[in-house]
Amino acid sequence: MKISVIGCGYLGAVHAASMAKLGHEVIGIDTDINKVTALQSGHAPFFEPGLPELLDEALSAGRLQFSTKMSDISDSDVHFVCVGTPQKSGEYAADIQYVDAAFSALIPHMRPGSVAVGKSTVPVGTASRIAALIEHGAPETHLVWNPEFLREGHAVQDTLTPDRLVYGISQDEKGHLAASILDHVYEAALAVGTPRLIVNYATAELVKSAANSFLATKISFINAMAEVCEVAGADVTSLADAIGMDDRIGRKFLNAGIGFGGGCLPKDIRAFMARAGELGADQALTFLREVDAINMRRRSKVVERTRELCGGSLIGKRITVLGATFKPNSDDVRDSPALSIAAQLQLQGANVTVTDPEGLANAMKRFPELKYERDLKISVTNANAVLLLTEWDEYTQLDPGTIGNLVDDRVILDGRNAINPEDWRANGWTYQGIGIPLSQ
Ligand code: UDX
Repeated sequence: MKISVIGCGYLGAVHAASMAKLGHEVIGIDTDINKVTALQSGHAPFFEPGLPELLDEALSAGRLQFSTKMSDISDSDVHFVCVGTPQKSGEYAADIQYVDAAFSALIPHMRPGSVAVGKSTVPVGTASRIAALIEHGAPETHLVWNPEFLREGHAVQDTLTPDRLVYGISQDEKGHLAASILDHVYEAALAVGTPRLIVNYATAELVKSAANSFLATKISFINAMAEVCEVAGADVTSLADAIGMDDRIGRKFLNAGIGFGGGCLPKDIRAFMARAGELGADQALTFLREVDAINMRRRSKVVERTRELCGGSLIGKRITVLGATFKPNSDDVRDSPALSIAAQLQLQGANVTVTDPEGLANAMKRFPELKYERDLKISVTNANAVLLLTEWDEYTQLDPGTIGNLVDDRVILDGRNAINPEDWRANGWTYQGIGIPLSQ
């Protein structure tokens, strides 16, 4: 099929390359000429494992191209809209100006019989408003709302082999016809039995908000348990293992740590609260305020714990932060708890050095006041404390003996419970994890 993808950020670039991998003829559109030029020459504008290979393969097979011109998409059968919905400055609500702009630009170019597919995470009610615009501006076309559940770092695999497909459609013949067109796009996933749920627009939009709220709640739940474990003399990892064995609960997303960050979970739960408020259902989501509060509290707790590990004062202490990105296998530093902790430590008088295998360029743009060092060994040399805040493999596999010879003080705070306390203690380190009693 002929497919266009409007918006070539994390979501759109991966979606475009993945659709081409499935054999479709794809054009990716973005207003940013630099991004389009990079993608067209096979360079992913961000770090995502597997994406460069996918781009190379599709570009050389001639199935993928990128452009800034909307007029280039006029013969597409299906148009995916993949633009961002960031948090509005100073507010909880999502800013949907890019969604509105993308559909306004798209509608005049939709040929009769084609389908527009919204993939962006939007406040419930957006899809039916856009469907009305499409009905007016391109009456022989249709809208499907098809939320995306990909995780950064696993985006290619999540797009090619999703857990489920959700189609929000209008409950009429046109809606079902549009769904059958989308079935052709996802033929490969459907052929291997991927569940496909057909729902109305509002349900499709809410599936995404509810899924991210549930995941955020799971993380804040275990982080709240970590707070109790610390004062009660318990161990949160063993607790998570034990409750996770109940398959009604499940072990995934029960890793206590420094909290969730990134471009999705934090802003999506806030936007969801804001939208529920507009709809008069704000009480239903007040628990998400607590989820957010528990999450933000992780950051100040790590700062406090570091102060204690440094003997009660941060002034002049040389602290090395391992990891700048919000999670491993990504160069994304949006709302990264690691960087926010690094900045707080620095504000409170510490000399902080941040290292990261992929995220330093983005980190420098957001926190130019911090010191960065790409070389891991140089970054830890003469440190008074090392903080492991993003669990990249190169940090979880560090040898405590080798690193111990470089630092001034063998003090490590493991913000992700990702290394083995016994190994580090056996090498003379003071080890502090999350959700275990102090100085255990
Ligand atoms: C998330 C959702 O998982 C995905 O389905 C949705 O489409 C977009 O938002 P992503 O932001 O890529 O994906 O990251 P995710 O893997 O969900 O991690 C989010 C944050 O939670 C990270 O900062 C991670 O370190 C943290 N996390 C995750 C924990 O602290 N503990 C866990 O057990 C899991």
